[in-house]
Amino acid sequence: MKIDILTLFPEMFDIFNHSIIGRAIKNNIIEINTFDIRNCTLDKHRKVDDYPYGGGAGMIMAAQPIVDSIKTVKTNNNGKVIFLGPRGKTFDQDLAKQLSRESELIFLCGHYEGIDERVYEYIDMEISLGDFVLTGGEMACIPIVDSICRLINGVLSNSNSCIDESFYSGLLEYPQYTRPENFRGQKVPEVLISGHHDNIRKWKKAQSLNITKIKRPDLFKKYVLTEEDKKLIKDVKL
Ligand SMILES: C[S@@+](CC[C@H](N)C(=O)[O-])C[C@H]1O[C@@H](n2cnc3c(N)ncnc32)[C@H](O)[C@@H]1O
Repeated sequence: MKIDILTLFPEMFDIFNHSIIGRAIKNNIIEINTFDIRNCTLDKHRKVDDYPYGGGAGMIMAAQPIVDSIKTVKTNNNGKVIFLGPRGKTFDQDLAKQLSRESELIFLCGHYEGIDERVYEYIDMEISLGDFVLTGGEMACIPIVDSICRLINGVLSNSNSCIDESFYSGLLEYPQYTRPENFRGQKVPEVLISGHHDNIRKWKKAQSLNITKIKRPDLFKKYVLTEEDKKLIKDVKL
């Protein structure tokens, strides 16, 4: 997967040079490039923003540097142009899965009071991180790119880890424990040390179902229960 990020603050993306994503970049599984929108401004003072027509608070990122940045990056990246903005489709795991199947993507980060409306002509999709306002698209781009990249084959050392995780199958994850078996009087559920694989599987599924039902009834409502799920909800205690 090749990702190009158009931004006024490329240094904010140094975060991708660390940990799991940093390792995936070093191993050439993913490529993440930043492109400074300021490189394309035709203004002699390197200005990229201006006052809004009709008045109003703050500055608006001008169309010219953004559109010319998109055109420049597109010469080496055929991916969809995705703008991070509050009007977009709210990001979720399904969208992360869908985008992880693409081989190339371009992200555009707005800043200040946003972008000139005419830039939308050059955008394929708008994604929002949620119903709140951030200081810049960079703040949304980082978690979105992270969650897409970790679904790409080879990025996580164990490819099963994301299949078991919250949201992947429409449910929240079951509780997890590591050593010691007894932490200050709190014991690991017996079934997990029983070595009985089918009972462990059923316990994990029952926990996921019950936790989702309690904590995220909205997700639970959408989840289609199998016959085994219906039995597990009744049989296993939380
Ligand atoms: C301060 S915001 C501009 C908000 C804009 N004036 C409005 O009311 O919709 C600056 C930039 O942050 C990004 N941004 C803000 N909230 C976002 C969100 N919920 N999801 C994704 N990007 C967001 C967008 O790129 C936006 O252009």
